[in-house]
Amino acid sequence: MTQTYRITLLPGDGIGPEIMRVAVEALEAIARQFDLRFSFNEALVGGAAIDATGEPLPADTLEQCCQSDAVLLAAIGGYKWDNLPRAQRPETGLLGLRAGLGLFANLRPATIVPQLIDASTLKREVVEGVDIMVVRELTGGIYFGQPKGIFQTETGAQRGVNTMAYTTAEIDRIAKVGFETARQRGHRLCSVDKANVLDVSQLWRDRLTQMASQYPDVELSHLYVDNAAMQLVRAPKQFDTLVTGNLFGDILSDAAAMLTGSIGMLPSASLGVAGTPGLFEPVHGSAPDIAGQDKANPLAQVLSAAMLLRYGLNQPQAATKLEMAVTQVLEQGYRTGDIMSAGLKSVGCRAMGEALLAALDA
Ligand code: IPM
Ligand code: MG
Repeated sequence: MTQTYRITLLPGDGIGPEIMRVAVEALEAIARQFDLRFSFNEALVGGAAIDATGEPLPADTLEQCCQSDAVLLAAIGGYKWDNLPRAQRPETGLLGLRAGLGLFANLRPATIVPQLIDASTLKREVVEGVDIMVVRELTGGIYFGQPKGIFQTETGAQRGVNTMAYTTAEIDRIAKVGFETARQRGHRLCSVDKANVLDVSQLWRDRLTQMASQYPDVELSHLYVDNAAMQLVRAPKQFDTLVTGNLFGDILSDAAAMLTGSIGMLPSASLGVAGTPGLFEPVHGSAPDIAGQDKANPLAQVLSAAMLLRYGLNQPQAATKLEMAVTQVLEQGYRTGDIMSAGLKSVGCRAMGEALLAALDA
């Protein structure tokens, strides 16, 4: 009998529910074609969870996620919840989900879609062919290090503190993901740190260097984060796979995403140790300004579902099929507002979904 995969859906806020609907329909079509079985259960996270329960990550949501084979998240946040105390903010729900599932490795591809190359703010010759994978450490570093908080000093002033800390075990496990990801791609790994200033970065660099001997087929290089930011916009094609800590990865993955000019197209995967469910979500946010207006681009959500198939369920053929359907709708000229250019077919979220289903069935 075919195995049934349990997938927890977290539509979240803003455009989340509408783009999620498209991704689920696409997964259902894929299931029919590849003889897979999915059982979907939906749970609350972010603002939607705050409104319903008072907290951004209810225990029941985390429990449902832990019990599933993979988690598909759309987007969280919105103006409405921006001024709540930190513990009740949507972002805290996302961080809790990452920590709660032990999702220490975040894969963020920044790939130029040939059909959308003119959407980039950089010159065509600079970005044509860009294909970068950012491997970001996701459950450590300055996001989680102790001590943290706003403290009272002896003089009565306040002092805000966060701590950037990595243990060798934390560095080694993300380094391994970096090397193995590079091995499946262009065999070049660039580690980004701030070892000229930070001790935590020196340890990071030393561990990466030591580990390189286990991966003779991968060429390891190191860059300081400021230089890496500059190189990313100067000559992005020099990069294949980047591996870096939580904060640097947050910043550099946004910069890398923008090279493509179409953040509405970029998926991501967050993975833990083998056997734990991964979390798959688009790189873009909840876009509250266009929520509920059928204007959102669902393709990053669909590509996140493809990453779920590839990295979460080990169904690479199904993943490729979904990715090819996305390419096909772009080839056919369908464009949502964020990627529209003259002469092409302007569609909303739902119509884009229908075009995608037609491409999947063709
Ligand atoms: C991201 C986001 C999050 C982060 C926020 C929303 C907590 O910027 O996924 O990159 O900083 O990790
Ligand atoms: Mg970010």
